Amino acid sequence: MALGDEVLRMERVGKRYPMGDTVVDALVDASFVLSEGEAVAILGPSGSGKSTLMHLLGFLDSPSSGEILFEGRPVAALTERQRARVRAEKIGFVFQAFNLLPRLTVRANVALPLAYLGHPPPDAEARVDRALALVGMSNRAHHKPGELSGGQRQRVAIARALVNEPRILLADEPTGNLDTKTAAAILELFQELNRQGRTIVVVTHSPEIAGHFRRQLHVLDGRVAEKGAAS
Ligand SMILES: Nc1ncnc2c1ncn2[C@@H]1O[C@H](COP(=O)(O)OP(=O)(O)OP(=O)(O)O)[C@@H](O)[C@H]1O
Ligand SMILES: [Mg+2]
Repeated sequence: MALGDEVLRMERVGKRYPMGDTVVDALVDASFVLSEGEAVAILGPSGSGKSTLMHLLGFLDSPSSGEILFEGRPVAALTERQRARVRAEKIGFVFQAFNLLPRLTVRANVALPLAYLGHPPPDAEARVDRALALVGMSNRAHHKPGELSGGQRQRVAIARALVNEPRILLADEPTGNLDTKTAAAILELFQELNRQGRTIVVVTHSPEIAGHFRRQLHVLDGRVAEKGAAS
């Protein structure tokens, strides 16, 4: 895949939740293209639809209207099984709350997504080593999450998201639980991953953090707009 190739396309995508007698339009007519190698920050106030958008980008949820195309193919045309497969192989997720399993070592946590692949790769151990090295956590491989700082836990969660060598890395407020200095270090890590060619999409409340990304999408009341574009 070459830099600039289309990875994911949203075409007038909407998400509507039923709420008693009424509905919530969490996302309205979202249309944009994500290209290989891009670094995108998603900004917007609480409740504006950022997480809804991220779930749709990662096929964790289906749209109520419109179409999502991954590598040119409509996601809706895939079976549930195929969709899970693409998600496992091509998409890495990082959440605000780390979501590490406390009883497993760092190494075992990072190895977990390899088990979701149809056939665990023969180089599984090497992949875990590479992912841990990328985030600077090789020397903590045998620790448990409870023995790590917040920033170190998030690094482990990022290594876990990278272990399958996904095409896209999606992160929903990955620095929301971290102090300013640690958040800056995690942000620097995302930028390094992008410099190495990975496509990344990061949700943040912070305009300061978003300012470091080449492209910014603003979400307001479920509507997505490019920063700077006339609305
Ligand atoms: N499962 C659901 N059922 C009903 N409404 C929902 C559901 N999930 C989200 N919503 C509504 O959709 C809107 C967008 O929610 P979303 O979680 O995407 O916001 P957000 O931008 O991620 O906010 P935050 O910054 O607080 O994380 C909100 O009004 C929310 O109440
Ligand atoms: Mg959210």
